[in-house]
Amino acid sequence: MPALILGATGNVGPHVVRELQVQGEHPRVMVRDADRAHALLGDDVDVHAGDMTDPAALAAAADGVDTVFLLSPHGFSMGDAQLGVIRALRRTGIRIVKLSGTSSAITPDGPHACRQHWEVERILQESGQPFVILRPNSFLQVLVERLMLPGLNATGTIMNPLGDAGISLIDARDVGAVAAATILRHDWDGQTLVLTGPRAVTYAEIADLVAARTGRPAGLAQVTPADVRASLVARGTEEWEAEHFEEMYALFRAGESAFVTDTVEQVTGRAPRTIEAFLDEVLAPAEAAS
Ligand SMILES: NC(=O)c1ccc[n+]([C@@H]2O[C@H](COP(=O)([O-])OP(=O)(O)OC[C@H]3O[C@@H](n4cnc5c(N)ncnc54)[C@H](OP(=O)(O)O)[C@@H]3O)[C@@H](O)[C@H]2O)c1
Repeated sequence: MPALILGATGNVGPHVVRELQVQGEHPRVMVRDADRAHALLGDDVDVHAGDMTDPAALAAAADGVDTVFLLSPHGFSMGDAQLGVIRALRRTGIRIVKLSGTSSAITPDGPHACRQHWEVERILQESGQPFVILRPNSFLQVLVERLMLPGLNATGTIMNPLGDAGISLIDARDVGAVAAATILRHDWDGQTLVLTGPRAVTYAEIADLVAARTGRPAGLAQVTPADVRASLVARGTEEWEAEHFEEMYALFRAGESAFVTDTVEQVTGRAPRTIEAFLDEVLAPAEAAS
């Protein structure tokens, strides 16, 4: 039976879709922009245009599937969107594979997004609906590629709110591979899988790895989580979100995301991608162009 993938055009969703296609599946996706989905994912997907916050549209898109991959974007109402999906699927027996966040932060009083994940997880666990919960650490594609490297290009330094703490960043492709495996096999039903990269790295190590690849120095600017919040607010970020990031960085700085699990390898049979391999890929075009 096919699976319905939500968030198929974001950081993680396309990798879930591709992994399923590699396994010979023809996944269904629910997207707001069908043309964009086809351009990104190709034609070997079953595209249902619609908004996941519309319960009737969601139920129609999920008709006949075995599993829904539940992901909604970071935002003030992220948890409400996910609870709406769970409600719309109640009594269907459809299994839900839910993407959560960094495991150590998922507590009732954690940072904004993480306490929403905590609520959604609780509802799923108590609902009787079959489920798998995935708790990945921060993505290399977001923390390094989208935040750190553009900042380095613009200023010549990497802002370091983590001090000397390490963080076991994970490649979003490995999250997608685990998600696809849990969609295809029922071995992990009812479980919460904690996903990390292969080792924890400090920002100083990342700066050295980047400098070794670009041939240019990458300095570190030491800042505090409170500095990050102030800078986000100064740039117009809403208060709840600035507070969320301050609290996330405070947890990272306390070493709360330095733990390492072997879950990616256990589930997929492949070791998680390293930051070295990721930087080789991401920095290769710049190197070739210079
Ligand atoms: N960033 C990290 O390092 C990190 C780490 C661990 C966990 N997480 C968790 O990962 C989740 C976000 O995943 P992501 O980074 O892959 O998301 P993302 O890149 O922001 O993508 C969000 C996806 O959801 C779709 N979408 C948004 N609103 C929709 C709606 N109303 N109806 C249908 N589709 C809709 C978007 O599609 P369109 O906009 O194209 O319509 C897009 O495909 C969050 O729960 C976050 O807490 C993030």
